[in-house]
Amino acid sequence: MGFKISVRALTLVYFSRYAQSAPPGFPQSGNGLWYTQPGVSWSKNYLPIGNGYLGAMTPGGTAYEATQLNIESLWTGGSFADPTYNGGNMLPTESSTMANDMRNIRQTIFQSSIGEIDNIEEICTPAGAYGSYAGAGYLISTLNTTGKVSNYARWLDLDEATTHTIWSQANLTFQRDSFCSHPSGACVQHLTTSNATTLPTITHAFSSFLPETGLPTPNITCFDNSTLQVRGFVANPGMLYEFLGRVQAVNPNGAVSILCNHTGSSTKGMVNASLTISGASESWFTWVGGTEYDQDAGDRAHDFTFRGADPHLSLSSLLASATSPNLTYASILSAHTNDFNAVMSPFALSLGQSPDLFHSTDQLLAAYRTDIGNTYLEWLLFNYGRYLLASSSRGVLPTNLQGKWAENVNNPWSCDSNINIQMNYWVAEMTGMDVTSSLFDYFEKNWAPRGEETAQILYNISRGWVTHNEIFGHTGMKLDVFLQMDHVWDHFDYTNDVEWWQTQGWPLVKGVASFHLDKLIPDLHFNDSTLVVSPCNSPEQAPITLACAHAQQLIWQLFNSVEKGYQAAGDTDSAFLEEVMSKRAQMDKGIRIGSWGQLQEWKVEKDMTTDTHRHLSHLIGLYPGYALTSYDASLQGGLLVHGTYLNYTKDQVLDAAEISLIHRGNGTGPDGDTGWEKAWRAACWAQLGNATEFYHILSASAHSFIIYAVVENFGPNLFSLYDPSSSDPIFQIDANLGFPAAVLNALLQAPDVPNLSTPLIVTLLPALPSQWPSGSIKGARIRGGISVNLQWSGGRPTAAVFTVDANAQGRDVRVMYADNVVGGFVTTGGLTHSLSIE
Ligand SMILES: *[C@@H]1O[C@H](CO)[C@@H](O)[C@H](O)[C@H]1NC(C)=O
Ligand SMILES: *[C@@H]1O[C@H](CO)[C@@H](O)[C@H](O)[C@H]1NC(C)=O
Ligand SMILES: *[C@@H]1O[C@H](CO)[C@@H](O)[C@H](O)[C@H]1NC(C)=O
Ligand SMILES: *[C@@H]1O[C@H](CO)[C@@H](O)[C@H](O)[C@H]1NC(C)=O
Ligand SMILES: *[C@@H]1O[C@H](CO)[C@@H](O)[C@H](O)[C@H]1NC(C)=O
Ligand SMILES: *[C@@H]1O[C@H](CO)[C@@H](O)[C@H](O)[C@H]1NC(C)=O
Ligand SMILES: *[C@@H]1O[C@H](CO)[C@@H](O)[C@H](O)[C@H]1NC(C)=O
Ligand SMILES: *[C@@H]1O[C@H](CO)[C@@H](O)[C@H](O)[C@H]1NC(C)=O
Ligand SMILES: *[C@@H]1O[C@H](CO)[C@@H](O)[C@H](O)[C@H]1NC(C)=O
Ligand SMILES: *[C@@H]1O[C@H](CO)[C@@H](O)[C@H](O)[C@H]1NC(C)=O
Ligand SMILES: *[C@@H]1O[C@H](CO)[C@@H](O)[C@H](O)[C@H]1NC(C)=O
Ligand SMILES: *[C@@H]1O[C@H](CO)[C@@H](O)[C@H](O)[C@H]1NC(C)=O
Repeated sequence: MGFKISVRALTLVYFSRYAQSAPPGFPQSGNGLWYTQPGVSWSKNYLPIGNGYLGAMTPGGTAYEATQLNIESLWTGGSFADPTYNGGNMLPTESSTMANDMRNIRQTIFQSSIGEIDNIEEICTPAGAYGSYAGAGYLISTLNTTGKVSNYARWLDLDEATTHTIWSQANLTFQRDSFCSHPSGACVQHLTTSNATTLPTITHAFSSFLPETGLPTPNITCFDNSTLQVRGFVANPGMLYEFLGRVQAVNPNGAVSILCNHTGSSTKGMVNASLTISGASESWFTWVGGTEYDQDAGDRAHDFTFRGADPHLSLSSLLASATSPNLTYASILSAHTNDFNAVMSPFALSLGQSPDLFHSTDQLLAAYRTDIGNTYLEWLLFNYGRYLLASSSRGVLPTNLQGKWAENVNNPWSCDSNINIQMNYWVAEMTGMDVTSSLFDYFEKNWAPRGEETAQILYNISRGWVTHNEIFGHTGMKLDVFLQMDHVWDHFDYTNDVEWWQTQGWPLVKGVASFHLDKLIPDLHFNDSTLVVSPCNSPEQAPITLACAHAQQLIWQLFNSVEKGYQAAGDTDSAFLEEVMSKRAQMDKGIRIGSWGQLQEWKVEKDMTTDTHRHLSHLIGLYPGYALTSYDASLQGGLLVHGTYLNYTKDQVLDAAEISLIHRGNGTGPDGDTGWEKAWRAACWAQLGNATEFYHILSASAHSFIIYAVVENFGPNLFSLYDPSSSDPIFQIDANLGFPAAVLNALLQAPDVPNLSTPLIVTLLPALPSQWPSGSIKGARIRGGISVNLQWSGGRPTAAVFTVDANAQGRDVRVMYADNVVGGFVTTGGLTHSLSIE
């Protein structure tokens, strides 16, 4: 994009500011994104819809619309591509070699003067048929109309979870609406004119290449007179997928014709078909899609194939109910909207924003500046993050690196679910979204079965499991990957759902904790009687060493979850609990203050003051964890480590975390300049109660540079972009989903604590920036099964109401504001505790 054009565009924007306003159907609350031009770039302009199973990106075209499609389980690779694929593991016959290699690696690290090894190649395995999440082609919809387009607008309605395009052409005003319904499992594209007159002829077709994505050409046929069937393979060889799409159309004043036009013959190979609708005043196309992937077939009993049934039969019945003749379009839409609102509510946030209905979303973003901000746009980014999570998480698989939206057959970083998956769900529990079951099923069915094999072969550990990640049960060794069970514990801590905990949560936590009992080994580098992991590294940082702060803090938190959840689990394996508690006492806690006051990233001091790495690995216990935030000297201090008693005070630990955070920079480091690292930093600054730094970094993520007309980390469609200045930037969803979590962490905090007898500390407005002087939160959720309503004005809280779930256990809760205790209660089922604050 050229410099001159950009400046001119901005100038025009300025002068046209009163010449336009949000389209008539746009929510008056301002809760949506709107534009005055059709989308050009997939990652910068298209607007996403999804129901978890299916995703679609809508460009907002007029007479020609090419909606890009996704099916959540459509992946290349795995056993579909290579029958010998084994999750990146060594062969069982190699296990004694592995055990020797592991011993040698540990010995080398322990004996090295700097506690390091250059590489651990001998235990690493090639990625094999790891594959990639793949785009599933395009739905092409045309209208037989020509002529000048006027009164154009498109928008995403965040109240209804729908996208819309309106325009006038050839004396008609058209409206196209799209959404993906979770209750029906289908997506719908609806077309009408505001005059309820007859529409020009409509067609629907499918294409695998618009542009070239690498998806092989599928068979496109007529399933029946009004239904298109698309069947293809994602690659050769690769997984089978199918779409079925059916038209329904009406016209109160005339006959409607729906025709499926089949061209070519399957015997000759070239098959294509399209649907033609004439005479309709209203027409809607409903599509469903699926693959032969089956997560329930990812275990040893199924030989880890992940191969299930041909999706055709289940899609046919899904489509039949989604297009049942007794359903009106309005009833399908309202079922969708009600369902979406049920996931989003009762939580609601006001930052005191006033909607700006005179500037389109891209204009708001273009005018956005670090430290100055725009409360309305920040509120939109908050709501949009929750919209994207609701629209991508409620399928069989969890929200991946691009949610469920990806265009190509091969996507950056395979679009997978490793480190980013943690951030994806940061905001879920606290805003009461029931969206985590796909995440836990994924841990249970994708990771655990193959992960037991990895534990055995790679580590010679015969209990529990480990993963180094992904969808076909890739658990084999890769550097940089870590596993966090915090979300599992958190779900129980927020809900007190004992039945879930006993059947799914506890077995996951116990499995990973069991593995770590054996993974912790005596530290033979410092010989200080502590237990450490080795080898380890900080995610995406080079040194392969021992006792990485990240791993030690996470294992300590995991072991606490075991103690906290043991009783509710109904487990009687007291030997396991005792071993966890004894090893927890002995283990290095991963908290050490270094020579320049920093929190050390590794037990051997290697930290550099100039290391502005994107990850904040050693601060995992500040946010989202609590090993630093809820530091307790009586539990984490006292060890004689490396000749020194580590009996820091909480203030000392937090000061060290702050020094590390300062030196880690503002998330524009030489190795990346992405939104997610700013969201994480902003959340950490909020945790430290520093509103200025919180807002600085948060707002920097949406800053626009006038000169390049480039937004720091978000595109005009508010997608978080890895490389926004590129003409075709990469979408990474984690900043979208981390942003709301960071915002919330500035308004309300109730971090986890090491044990259930430690009071929960709830802090009101810990880092409220001056930009948000008044506002309110309704229906936030905190640990212990508590809902919170909070109001503030003049930069101070005015009222807070805590309502305890009926099934809550007795927890001691203390409410703080500005370093003062302003309230407190012990939770009992159904309790309401109201505070009015002077
Ligand atoms: C694996 O662990 C078992 C139990 O600790 C031990 O007896 C065996 O020698 C180990 N195998 C190898 C190859 O080191
Ligand atoms: C498209 O519209 C033109 C002009 O109204 C008409 O002549 C033509 O037959 C239409 N084509 C189809 C496929 O309906
Ligand atoms: C639009 O309406 C005008 C005035 O009635 C008429 O002259 C013109 O032909 C119409 N255009 C189209 C494309 O129908
Ligand atoms: C359809 O509605 C638009 C505006 O809503 C109007 O300009 C146009 O004349 C109407 N066309 C017909 C055929 O009624
Ligand atoms: C099928 O037809 C549509 C619409 O004409 C076209 O875009 C698509 O490329 C065709 N597909 C194949 C495989 O020819
Ligand atoms: C499909 O359309 C053809 C041609 O219009 C018609 O002969 C046939 O009866 C239709 N079949 C069904 C099941 O509606
Ligand atoms: C597409 O049709 C060809 C020819 O009938 C067939 O060999 C092939 O298996 C079909 N592909 C799919 C995905 O059904
Ligand atoms: C059916 O498809 C063929 C080939 O694309 C095309 O020539 C023909 O006009 C189509 N018929 C209808 C009614 O759309
Ligand atoms: C519509 O019909 C289907 C069966 O075709 C039935 O299961 C469903 O309950 C009906 N829905 C309504 C709203 O009547
Ligand atoms: C830390 O603990 C050790 C051993 O209990 C004690 O000797 C030392 O004075 C303590 N240091 C501080 C700063 O409290
Ligand atoms: C981020 O830090 C770099 C290096 O210190 C500095 O040049 C840049 O201005 C900072 N940006 C923001 C938004 O703070
Ligand atoms: C916030 O952090 C900055 C940078 O470290 C520091 O200068 C400022 O004093 C801090 N503000 C508060 C309120 O702690």
